[in-house]
Amino acid sequence: MVIALDGPAGSGKSSTAKEVARRLKFVHLDTGAMYRAITLKCLRLQIRADNEQELHKIVGSTELCFCGSPPDTRIWMDDEDVTRAVRSDEVTKNVSDYCAPEVVRKILVEQQRSIGRQASCVCEGRDIGTVVFPQAEVKFFLVASDEARARRRQKDFCEIGITKSLDELIAEIRERDRKDSTRSNSPLKRAGDAEVLDTTSLAFNEQVERIVCAAQKCKSGS
Ligand code: DC
Repeated sequence: MVIALDGPAGSGKSSTAKEVARRLKFVHLDTGAMYRAITLKCLRLQIRADNEQELHKIVGSTELCFCGSPPDTRIWMDDEDVTRAVRSDEVTKNVSDYCAPEVVRKILVEQQRSIGRQASCVCEGRDIGTVVFPQAEVKFFLVASDEARARRRQKDFCEIGITKSLDELIAEIRERDRKDSTRSNSPLKRAGDAEVLDTTSLAFNEQVERIVCAAQKCKSGS
């Protein structure tokens, strides 16, 4: 079974996906982390996002894999655990540019489908219900107010020692939303059959429960 969780930055996808996957004993597939890892590598190698030829080489020759089980799934790039490095401010600011080119998406989407074929998974991203797994049995599109999303980002950054004002974060989040939803390739968009879940004022357990219940209902065929 595939549970597709899409939505903009800070809508609560990651924390929810981790907990749903832990409860159901599914794999947690964080597709954003894959785009972030490629971004990290390109930044380190000083490859620009508009250099399609180099991007193609990099994505084709980079080994990405997920290890461990939720909530502690880690992402490895080649022989390095980059779970923490992919969350840096620099990667976050640049990832929208590196995840947009067709050459990047084509290869990563194939890898994501291959993981989804091997095990039941909770897959989070921007195009999961629309492009990666349009046949996913359970689909949710998470949303939240800009302020709620910025507060969550502020907390995440604080945990890695970065201080940012709420206004700065709201501006960054809106800019990332703009880029992610207006790109020509697999833009952020709700799948017609995805249920919208507004997490602005939902308790964390409640949002997890809604998704777990939908999955159990689907499994039992009711
Ligand atoms: O969910 P996140 O913030 O870790 O995602 C990082 C970036 O990757 C985000 O700007 C959008 C992009 N992304 C995407 O284009 N498609 C996905 N399936 C997942 C993420």
